[in-house]
Amino acid sequence: MNIKTLLANLTLEEKAGQLVQLPPYFFKKEALQEVAGPVQRLKLREQDIFQAGSVLGIGNPQEMIDIQTMYLSKSRHKIPLVFMADIIHGYKTIFPIPLALAGSFSTQNFYKMARASAEEATLSGIHVTFSPMADLVKDPRWGRVMEAYGEDPYLSYHYAYAMTQGYQGKRLKNKDSLAACIKHFAAYGAALAGRDYAQASISLHDFYQQYDAGYRGAVDAGVRMAMTSFNVFEGIPATIHQTLLRKILRKRMGFKGVTISDYDSIIETVVHRVSQDDQDAVRQALLATVDIEMASGAYIKHIPTLVKQGLIDIELIDQAVLRVLKLKKDLGLFQNPFKGAHIEKEKSFPLSAPQLAIAKTLADESIVLLKNHNHLLPLSNQKIALLGHLSNSGALLGPWSWHGNREITPSLHSVLKPFIQSSVEDTQTWSEAFKQQIKLADVMIVMTGEEEKESGEARSKTNPVLADKTIQFIKQLKAFGKPIVLIVTAGRPLVLTPIVDDVHAILYAYFLGSQAAYTITDTLLGKNNPSAKLTMTFPRRVGQIPIMYNHLNTGRPFLGQNFTYTSHYIDESNLPLFTFGDGLSYTTFQFSQFKDASTNDDILLSITVKNTGTKAGYAIVPVYLHQPLAPAALPNRQLVGMEKRFLQPQESQSLLINIDRQFLTYIDDTYQRQPLKGKLSFVTGEETSLLYVHKEI
Ligand code: NOJ
Repeated sequence: MNIKTLLANLTLEEKAGQLVQLPPYFFKKEALQEVAGPVQRLKLREQDIFQAGSVLGIGNPQEMIDIQTMYLSKSRHKIPLVFMADIIHGYKTIFPIPLALAGSFSTQNFYKMARASAEEATLSGIHVTFSPMADLVKDPRWGRVMEAYGEDPYLSYHYAYAMTQGYQGKRLKNKDSLAACIKHFAAYGAALAGRDYAQASISLHDFYQQYDAGYRGAVDAGVRMAMTSFNVFEGIPATIHQTLLRKILRKRMGFKGVTISDYDSIIETVVHRVSQDDQDAVRQALLATVDIEMASGAYIKHIPTLVKQGLIDIELIDQAVLRVLKLKKDLGLFQNPFKGAHIEKEKSFPLSAPQLAIAKTLADESIVLLKNHNHLLPLSNQKIALLGHLSNSGALLGPWSWHGNREITPSLHSVLKPFIQSSVEDTQTWSEAFKQQIKLADVMIVMTGEEEKESGEARSKTNPVLADKTIQFIKQLKAFGKPIVLIVTAGRPLVLTPIVDDVHAILYAYFLGSQAAYTITDTLLGKNNPSAKLTMTFPRRVGQIPIMYNHLNTGRPFLGQNFTYTSHYIDESNLPLFTFGDGLSYTTFQFSQFKDASTNDDILLSITVKNTGTKAGYAIVPVYLHQPLAPAALPNRQLVGMEKRFLQPQESQSLLINIDRQFLTYIDDTYQRQPLKGKLSFVTGEETSLLYVHKEI
């Protein structure tokens, strides 16, 4: 297929159509009756609908095949539709939410999740996923932190890179390859005060220093699509921001693919009061090189007029259409418009044993042990009382899991049942029977936190804390004088300060997906040794937000309460409750022999790690840059490399850690990234026994 020849044969209206994305119901046979409302609102005629180039979301392969068949039968040039959807952490087999998986400190795990997701989702006829979401996040008030990797740029870069590779596979043409879409460009995660859709509250320097890393990772991995964000960035809505999209995304980062707006974000620039009306919004988005408009249909309505009135150069439209046609061609849609869609396999492969096994491994490596007083966990033969409002729920998949099925997802209660000697399901009333049951138990397990609907898009909170009634419940339980294990299910870090001293162990489970209950059970009972580390700092109090490990120093660092004019709060410590990198294990590791082992240009550091405990487990070795002197202020610590290894008890191994030079940089006063020079300091190890390598570069 010669797409340039094809382009030359398209009418202006047909070109505009390629740049529009509509929901699937528009294409159903009875389109005009079924969606009379939206069709009328948009004043779309049937011929407009059958010119649209892409579809947002699809239920199953049959639906995709029907729509594609009908569409092609009506379309003059037989340009196939491209089907896009949000496959964020799995299609039907649901993996841990990205914020949880980030804690596994493994790029391999993100690759695996994306590959396994692509293998399932392509069977339903999906061609493009709106993932990875690489918005850097530091504010747990924002509900979408669950989709992100946390507060660290190094992790964001490498995770976005790995996910892109995982989705896109070896060749995009392959039936099981999904084109990836990096989002939300740019800095959507820096929403002011954590309120969704609010302006990005960062400087351009912050952007280049930290926030751009995830997007760069995906672009470097060859991501095929980029989605603009809802927010205002440096005074202009990102969706129509010419500098952002042309100069930063396409030129500086080298992005070559298709850009897409977020849902209605083009026409929303009228509400931002920077576009006069929808037509003006479309004009501005086109000037910024936004290729596809998601949802509103405004491109189809206004592009022809804008071109005819000379307000938009047809060359701009042609470039956009060519990028869309190229994507369709590279996906192999001209050869096979149904690509991977497969009615039978879509019924059997998702949720099959191998897929669930991946979900289980990833969940096992994502659960975080935050506290384990007197080695309460793992449990041995204690009599368990299982409590808490989430203990009997299958709603453990987390937001953005449209195709996941809660009905068949086991609850903790159902999996832990054989090990529960006294199960207390009624946690609301303090009946005598209820109290009696607790008295019979040796340990109380309380599973609580957030419901699925409490995080995700448009789920901002001013107070990301455990609910008052949960705190009261735990305080009342404490009176029984038995150890309490707290299991928290949540889409964000919650403030745990009010109960942290009342409970003996804390397992932070986030939303672990289809296999959540098995992972929690195995972790409680010691079959799984927890290894994950936090990638988002947990505040002690809401007023500390945003709080992160990699902040800059001040000229007046806190020296103690006697030093009034130093950077501190008068009503709370500066320190978080738990910080980036925290996470315990059932075993202990000893780190030694941290040395420079560089060869040529690669910076390699070696370290010996020994499992000094009695249980096998993963050791995670993060290496940070601590720069005593640099031309620009740098964080006190910045992750620049990591390794992870499974070690048997008493086993010792030497690991090589590759240091990523991209992060040995600073941003100068013209916003250029410059390499650090001179003596660099790398640090790793336990807080109490840090190990350093100093190296001249
Ligand atoms: C809005 C969300 O911001 C975006 O992440 C998502 O991909 C689109 N809706 C499509 O569902």
